[in-house]
Amino acid sequence: MKKILLPLLTLILALTPALSRAEEHKAKPDKAETPLEKSMDALKKSWRKLRLQAADPAKNASSLELLAKIQAATKESLLYTPDLARDIPADKRDQFVAGYQKKMKGVIVGFDQVEIALKAGDNKTVVELLEKINALQKEGHKEYKRPE
Ligand code: HEM
Repeated sequence: MKKILLPLLTLILALTPALSRAEEHKAKPDKAETPLEKSMDALKKSWRKLRLQAADPAKNASSLELLAKIQAATKESLLYTPDLARDIPADKRDQFVAGYQKKMKGVIVGFDQVEIALKAGDNKTVVELLEKINALQKEGHKEYKRPE
């Protein structure tokens, strides 16, 4: 019995990391695969934080730092094409990509306005602008993101 126990234990120990890696993989099936997803992921954390503290003038310096990251990520997003474009018929694809870029430019302009308002200490306008950008995000995802 003892003779079997040791190899069995060794086998279990050897397999444990592989098994737990397989679990991890299952939990996050398609994490940040496309360049646009990576760019959007970078946006997500700063965007959430900025929205939470946007109304607080005492946080404006920190909000400007978050905004700089958001501005860089949205400008980067403009360089990429939504994955869904692959499903669009060739003759309609340019129009689809142009629509995506137009919406994303609207978001970029919105964030530039947020910068002006933050620098002016006008937090009421900051909050209003973020609401408008949030609506653009929802539209953008509805129109250009592949349904889950
Ligand atoms: C504040 C604005 C926005 C935020 C915080 C945001 C955030 C995100 C997040 C978290 C994802 C999922 C990434 C992943 O699956 O790993 C995503 C995906 C995506 N977003 Fe946004 N987004 C914003 C605005 C927009 C806008 C305006 C558009 C379109 C004009 C857009 C188009 C897309 C597309 C197409 C995807 C799927 C990625 C792909 O096709 O490769 N997003 N976004």
